[in-house]
Amino acid sequence: MCGIVGAVAERNITAILIEGLKRLEYRGYDSAGLAVLTQDGELQRRRRIGKVSELEAAVVAEPVAGRLGIAHTRWATHGAPTEGNAHPHFSGHEVAVVHNGIIENHEALREELKGLGYVFASQTDTEVIVHLIHHTLKSLPDLADALKAAVKRLHGAYGLALISTHQPDRLVAARSGSPLVIGLGLGENFLASDQLALRQVTDRFMYLEEGDIAEIRRDQVRIWDQGGREVQRETVQYHEGAEAADKGQYRHFMLKEIHEQPRVVQRTLEGRLGTDHVLVQAFGPQAAELFAKVRNVQIVACGTSYHAGMVARYWLESLAGIPCQVEVASEFRYRKVVVQPDTLFVSISQSGETADTLAALRNAKELGFLGSLAICNVGISSLVRESDLTLLTLAGPEIGVASTKAFTTQLVSLMLLTLALGQVRGTLAAGVEAELVEELRRLPARLGEALAMDATVEKIAELFADKHHTLFLGRGAQYPVAMEGALKLKEISYIHAEAYPAGELKHGPLALVDNDMPVVTVAPNNELLEKLKSNLQEVRARGGELVVFADEQAGLSNGEGTHVIQVPHIADALAPILYTIPLQLLSYYVAVLKGTDVDQPRNLAKSVTVE
Ligand code: G6P
Repeated sequence: MCGIVGAVAERNITAILIEGLKRLEYRGYDSAGLAVLTQDGELQRRRRIGKVSELEAAVVAEPVAGRLGIAHTRWATHGAPTEGNAHPHFSGHEVAVVHNGIIENHEALREELKGLGYVFASQTDTEVIVHLIHHTLKSLPDLADALKAAVKRLHGAYGLALISTHQPDRLVAARSGSPLVIGLGLGENFLASDQLALRQVTDRFMYLEEGDIAEIRRDQVRIWDQGGREVQRETVQYHEGAEAADKGQYRHFMLKEIHEQPRVVQRTLEGRLGTDHVLVQAFGPQAAELFAKVRNVQIVACGTSYHAGMVARYWLESLAGIPCQVEVASEFRYRKVVVQPDTLFVSISQSGETADTLAALRNAKELGFLGSLAICNVGISSLVRESDLTLLTLAGPEIGVASTKAFTTQLVSLMLLTLALGQVRGTLAAGVEAELVEELRRLPARLGEALAMDATVEKIAELFADKHHTLFLGRGAQYPVAMEGALKLKEISYIHAEAYPAGELKHGPLALVDNDMPVVTVAPNNELLEKLKSNLQEVRARGGELVVFADEQAGLSNGEGTHVIQVPHIADALAPILYTIPLQLLSYYVAVLKGTDVDQPRNLAKSVTVE
């Protein structure tokens, strides 16, 4: 994922830009660059492939100083990771741009701009922006005015920043689908794609909203909204407590991370959705070409990430019509595998360093897969480095050993993969994709609603505190959600928990059911609901106590031995993501009641880098 840093000050800002880029390194990138307006009024640029430290070395070898500048870490989408494709991009040595996101109509704009005499120096979609601005400046000489006019021509997702030799006292920025934050200093101001990049220079931030255009000078910040009206955005003071390495108001990291899910899911979606479709380029420059050939998918992962893969199998087959197999990495790596032609190998991992998953990827390379895609939370991990394509889950650092926000962002990423594959392969109707994109946009708010169940779930947790065994049931894509619920409970409360597809109940586990074994069920309102209701009857008839997380429209209600907790209604395809939340809360509150070490459960490790 790309990163942006910008600064306008009375001091030399080169070191601030480099430090900012370093703080964004965790997001993953393949090249880095900066452009500074020197005291002579000249735009100077340094760019390097690889690490920010390479860029830093280039600046040491050939110093560049100035009071206005922009910088970028690039994650290639259009054009390979080369120095020539690294940002900033220039037009006529007068305007420089850095850009996160994807400009979908770049080809048409490129042709138009070539017709106007512009010569392109890179293969990026970004370069059209800077030439378009350069051209617009001829009729609208003010940089902010030119940006307001130019963004009307851009389709896709962007967070971008520009500087020009003609107005050396300012940088301008635009946000649409890719976040930007202004950092407010004293007599100096900054811009970044993530406030983390500016923590060394300020603790006051102003977040741009969708469609905002900003003009940032040393002593003034002006913002216009989507409709062109000048607006004020709230200044937010950053407090240490809000940070990842700090539990803040929460008793445990796990609870904090559960509550972060609306925000991190939002972040994982940002820059990856067009108006009515998924932006395939978000998976990397070769994604469209590779995806067009995919006829099968093989998913490999461990633990919670494996459960995400199991949900994806339901999605890939039912929505995109693509056959999918899922296997735990420790099995896959030692098995003689028959690879179907044109199979994409997908690994899923929070850490990107899990030994079995990495070994499976390395084996896969010898086995004749079409290519490899990593869905991973750590941009600089081995798994990412060794895969052909990557989609980063932007969950931020996860401290609690029991994975929560990493799982839901994996699910969101896998839904993006499903839609992207269906789109490129032509197996998914455009209308269905548009509908799901709309649902995805609403998802963070729905997750917020699910979190409001916190107190209800805390109460129901009391039922489990003295129990030794629990059964989790689900059907369809909710079966892996039930598995994840059971895994969470056993990991942190040490209660034995097993998950079954509800239809299997009568083939064995029913023998275990008595009034000492609560049965947890996830029951969205889908075509399997009636069947699930019969399964619940089977449990009740044996005296088993039922805890049912059910769609508010499912027509289930409390009764003797049946506790129904209503979950907000959601489109069936996204239900696995929403229903995960109450199950996470349940395991959390049971563990708290039992007094276990919630964030560091016994015998478990966050990242299992050995076999
Ligand atoms: C460990 C962690 C789990 C995680 C699994 C896979 O067991 O405790 O939370 O799901 O490893 O880790 P990965 O980083 O590959 O997702």
